[in-house]
Amino acid sequence: MRVFVADHPLITHKLTVLRDKNTPQPTFRLLTEELMTLLAYEATREVRVEPYEIETPVTKTMGVRLTQPLPLIVPILRAGLGMLEGMVKLVPTAEVGFLGMARDEETLLPTTYAERLPDSLAGRQCFVLDPMLATGGSLAGAIKFLFDRGADDVTAICVLGTPEGIETIREAAGDRKVTLVLGALDEGLNDKAYIVPGLGDAGDRLYGTA
Ligand code: URA
Repeated sequence: MRVFVADHPLITHKLTVLRDKNTPQPTFRLLTEELMTLLAYEATREVRVEPYEIETPVTKTMGVRLTQPLPLIVPILRAGLGMLEGMVKLVPTAEVGFLGMARDEETLLPTTYAERLPDSLAGRQCFVLDPMLATGGSLAGAIKFLFDRGADDVTAICVLGTPEGIETIREAAGDRKVTLVLGALDEGLNDKAYIVPGLGDAGDRLYGTA
């Protein structure tokens, strides 16, 4: 598995405002989207393209376009939805599937409570959006789900991650092609499994506590 941690002053600045507990919800949403567009630029570095010929006003030349099947963006409900528009801005022709993951309180294992994805993901590059890589349980569950459906190349994009979360994803990935793109790598988790220093509950800060 490959791990990229962003290193750009604009990303650090946007993250600083996201971390600030006094940042109001509309600003938090907007910045999550903007940050996502910057992370998407890094995450799509190896998006599959094919050459094709175009005519400029002056001459013929070769360019590239996205290869079929088009990339699939998969926000994990609910907080991943806050990252979707930022990704779609950069890759507007990508398709979007949805995955809801929750922890089964008896088995403590991640379970899928909602999904709207193609039956086969064979040959698809999948981009999974989940802002907080804390213990990594739900993201690992989502990645396994996509591989079980036939995906062969999964990139997960998270606003913040922890060393524990990275290890969970590394174990889930095994020798399959998984790339992890993080806005920042934080210190770890507190006793309530919140990321430290973190930004609190991303879903609540995006959408409230309804
Ligand atoms: N999920 C969140 O939204 N925040 C954390 O800090 C950990 C998990």
